[in-house]
Amino acid sequence: EKGGYDYFMLKEIAEQPKAVADTLLGRIDAGGTLSLDEVRIPASVLREIDKVVIVACGTAYHAGLIAKLAIEHWTRIPCETELASEFRYRDPILDQRTLVVAISQSGETMDTLMALRHAREQGAKVLAVCNTNGSTIPRESDAVLYTHAGPEVAVASTKAFLTQLVACYLVALYLGQVRGTKWGDEIQAVIRELSEISGAVDTVLETMEPVRALARSLAEKNTVLFLGRHVGYPVALEGALKLKELAYMHAEGFAAGELKHGPIALIEDDLPVVVVVPSPRGRSVLHDKIVSNIQEIRARGARTIVIAEEGDEAVVPYADHLIRIPATPTLLQPLVATVPLQVFACELATARGNEVDQPRNLAKSVTVE
Ligand code: M6R
Repeated sequence: EKGGYDYFMLKEIAEQPKAVADTLLGRIDAGGTLSLDEVRIPASVLREIDKVVIVACGTAYHAGLIAKLAIEHWTRIPCETELASEFRYRDPILDQRTLVVAISQSGETMDTLMALRHAREQGAKVLAVCNTNGSTIPRESDAVLYTHAGPEVAVASTKAFLTQLVACYLVALYLGQVRGTKWGDEIQAVIRELSEISGAVDTVLETMEPVRALARSLAEKNTVLFLGRHVGYPVALEGALKLKELAYMHAEGFAAGELKHGPIALIEDDLPVVVVVPSPRGRSVLHDKIVSNIQEIRARGARTIVIAEEGDEAVVPYADHLIRIPATPTLLQPLVATVPLQVFACELATARGNEVDQPRNLAKSVTVE
């Protein structure tokens, strides 16, 4: 059942191009228009939405952080992403014009379920993004957009994450399409790029051997830091989460701009720091700022592990290790940038003799609050 792989996690990492393609299947028509009729919330209701709130836990929460950027950019609707376990305890402001998006692979996470129940009690509409047919979260929601990752067995979420991203991009683009924003042309272009993105995920998977070798060489380390900005920040958080749960290492993700406000004091000789670099073509200001960050930490002794777009030459002088990813539209970059971090964590866990599919103290679905 592991299809020739040593671990389910390896199999599930390898299945990502298909999972991404399957989640797009039938949802984009030949003319490049999204058809999400399965989301049974009428367009008239979606046009009236004045706020989106995303609730989720763990890896799904990281997908939600990226979704927030996509939703706000393409729809101009204010959007916040909140840890489901915190949500109902802060008396959130919700009403009939709020769309709550609950993201969950299992559909059984109690924290997320309690958050959506609270949202519905306040009159909000709830859309579930879920991978498990007929599970509790979609059953209790107003509508559901299923991710088509197939069963995810390994405790560490991989293919479910990529498909959550795809589903969230579809929701964001669909809201943009229904409401007609000034980004119409960009939305069309992104829909086209999204429909071909599984090939880019495949390309990343084919070039992972140096990442594995690097991971093995770091097996004795105690700490790894991850830096990113914009969509790269949640990717950094996700890279750190994977390393904690699989390699049992101290790992932290930071927004690179925050470095100077404290975390830079952590940098010491030979400390591995993974940096997710935004595309130089997109928000080029951010790109240049991150290149300066890489310079700064390297000058203080960090061992820089740089994830950068193909053709980005500016990072080359400051990268002790360079991991290339294909060029994508800015907001879609997490679909390719996360994959090396999954491989990295899986290989480090293996090198440290840890149980990859069943990390200690963790369960695949967390059905207690
Ligand atoms: O089933 P869910 O997506 O609701 O699960 C949420 C988290 O428990 C889950 O993503 C967890 O963080 C993973 N083990 C991360 O790899």
